[in-house]
Amino acid sequence: MQIYFFIYTIGCQMNVNESDILSEALSNYGLLKSKTVDKANLIIINTCSVREHAEHKAFSLFGRLTQQYKQSKIVVIGCMAEYLEQIIKQRFKDIDLIISQRYNNMQSVASKIIKILYINSNIPLLTTTIQKQNNNKIVNYITIIKGCSNYCAYCIVPFVKGNEQSLEYNDILKECTLMVTNGTREIVLLGQNVNAYNNNSINFSTLIKNIAKIKDLLRIRFMTNHPKDFTDELIQTIASTAKVCTNIHLPMQSASNKILHNMNRQYDYEYYVNLINKLRNSISNINITTDIIVGFPNETEKDFYETLDAIKYIKFGKIYVFKYSPRRFTYASKFIDNVSYYDKQKRHIKILEEAKKISSKIITDMVGSNQEILIESYINNTLEGKTKHGYKVLLSNKYNINLGKIINVKITGIKGTSLISNKIV
Ligand code: SAH
Ligand code: SF4
Ligand code: F3S
Repeated sequence: MQIYFFIYTIGCQMNVNESDILSEALSNYGLLKSKTVDKANLIIINTCSVREHAEHKAFSLFGRLTQQYKQSKIVVIGCMAEYLEQIIKQRFKDIDLIISQRYNNMQSVASKIIKILYINSNIPLLTTTIQKQNNNKIVNYITIIKGCSNYCAYCIVPFVKGNEQSLEYNDILKECTLMVTNGTREIVLLGQNVNAYNNNSINFSTLIKNIAKIKDLLRIRFMTNHPKDFTDELIQTIASTAKVCTNIHLPMQSASNKILHNMNRQYDYEYYVNLINKLRNSISNINITTDIIVGFPNETEKDFYETLDAIKYIKFGKIYVFKYSPRRFTYASKFIDNVSYYDKQKRHIKILEEAKKISSKIITDMVGSNQEILIESYINNTLEGKTKHGYKVLLSNKYNINLGKIINVKITGIKGTSLISNKIV
């Protein structure tokens, strides 16, 4: 019987990447990826625990899928599988398998899934053991650091993913080379804290300089960065390595030194602004984006306005704002969650409004400028690419350009948060 699978992915880019690798691994066993969940006899949910909202989303999916697809095998992986296995099993008896991938790579996750699918018949043979081929993916992702050892007071990641572990330099270089041979032109390096990379004294700067040497690779991006690990060497490396893209995600979380201290972020606002200035003075066409948490315990109006003022001053390209959500195991879960939901909501909206004003001005100011874009995809007569500093550009395909090429275009308009161009320069 032909088995079709469907994967739901909640959470960060690393989860998206792991779902991709799992997809590849299951395909290597002869399973087919289904476009709709209705057709799937195997449904996988890749979960996230970072906020309560993400867990609720998964719980409601478990409820709906176990009701609606009784004939299908249902598998749960991801961060919730790390510590909620018993609760999930008790509440959803129809879930067939829960796998923690902290101790399993995606290849072994796939083989565990295969075992439950073929209980009474022969397990199909692997057609290939390559973990991630990703043929013809113009933009491809690779995790270079697993876990995190920073223990920010609010964050569950170190508890579900374990301590920070930099992957082997030689393996990363080999995989990147293979991706480029298979058609990749942009590689995105992933980690909770990529800029802390260190493997046998090869640091992040050396890693990106050496990846940049791969022939035919055009671009390197990376995320996420911790401000405390952003060295001058790294700033110089980005400034002097042409292939390195210039969108830098640098979570600030708050601008109040009291809150930053209580969050255990290991920097203060002055350090953060100084870093922003150094980045902007050294790297041209830089787009700095950030994460903000509102309503951390004891965040007063005054603390909040410090953050809002900082946002007005720094002018981030994009801001991801989150309402503080107490998480099990974390240090902050011992504090009383004493900012009311109403206040969190109010602060959340205020930051979003300000962020929108700033980002639309930045985007509008780009109209008329020339930008270098890498063409990534082609949908309905429109080519889609990204600028070096991370903005999406839609280009009409009257030019007939191949995917994976870098071209210079003039930005002629905007559509939502994307830029539009109808002119190559
Ligand atoms: N290591 C990365 C990713 C962490 S999770 C980083 O440092 O950026 C992504 C974002 O989720 C964090 O930056 C933070 O803003 C937010 N976040 C993490 N835990 C949270 C919590 N308990 N409540 C609200 N937001 C949270
Ligand atoms: Fe969480 Fe902090 Fe680690 Fe980011 S750096 S994953 S916020 S502990
Ligand atoms: Fe979520 Fe786990 Fe990523 S908690 S943000 S999926 S590391």
